[in-house]
Amino acid sequence: MDNRPVLFLDSGIGGIPYCRDFLKRNAQETVYYIADRENFPYGPRSKEEIASILISLTKELLNKISAKLVVIACNTASISALSPLRQKFPQLLFVGTVPAIKPAVSACKSGKIGVLGTERTIQDIRTLNLEDGSCEIFGVSAPELVEFVEKSIDSASENEKTDIIRKYIDIFREQGIDTLVLGCTHFLYLIEEFRREAEPEIKIFDSLEGITNRIEFLLNENDGALRAQKDCAHDRKFILTGTQPPGPSWTNRAKVSGFDLCLINEL
Ligand code: DGL
Repeated sequence: MDNRPVLFLDSGIGGIPYCRDFLKRNAQETVYYIADRENFPYGPRSKEEIASILISLTKELLNKISAKLVVIACNTASISALSPLRQKFPQLLFVGTVPAIKPAVSACKSGKIGVLGTERTIQDIRTLNLEDGSCEIFGVSAPELVEFVEKSIDSASENEKTDIIRKYIDIFREQGIDTLVLGCTHFLYLIEEFRREAEPEIKIFDSLEGITNRIEFLLNENDGALRAQKDCAHDRKFILTGTQPPGPSWTNRAKVSGFDLCLINEL
């Protein structure tokens, strides 16, 4: 049995849906969520810069927390930093998030799949070899959508949400795409709007279930050696980088999720 925490990490709120999905079936686990608001957004940065941010953040976290597994709940960070992180911290288990291209390829009939992500993700997507060459990938970056979710999702009206995604769906429709992968964890906050506006002509894919399954698989290995004890008191922390006071939106977010909010330097 292992009661150490599982960490979920993103540049902002993008990883929260992944964290919630994991906790639905794994409530006995201690989970800490880390929002790297100080370095938000990752998308416009270079691969090297993102890797260096993630390495120093992980180092700082590991100095304060003994984690059993780290989920990089961010496509941009996973694409740029997962290999360097695994090299730097070989003793630690990492789960990365990459766009769900494989299931989209299986469902694709038009020969063209769409991927919506950050600038970094879209530039690097082909280097990942996530598809078998049977489909053409049409990538579109949507930094405006990342900002919208991070800054305004709680206060946005249904019309605002629908309006902002519609133009992207129109771009993919014009290209004759029938499968669209949401390749940024922030976009999960708009999945209902994406499904309502795009399906059934364009089927929407995300990596939520795949990531939860992968974490569970790793925790269950070796007869569940990394599993927390069922009756052990678990802990939920919502950790922010930077030193500025959190403000009401972070306070509220942590409260709604049932997490204790703190700054990284308070750990
Ligand atoms: N949530 C991140 C992702 O999945 C990106 C947000 C950012 O640009 O920081 O790619």
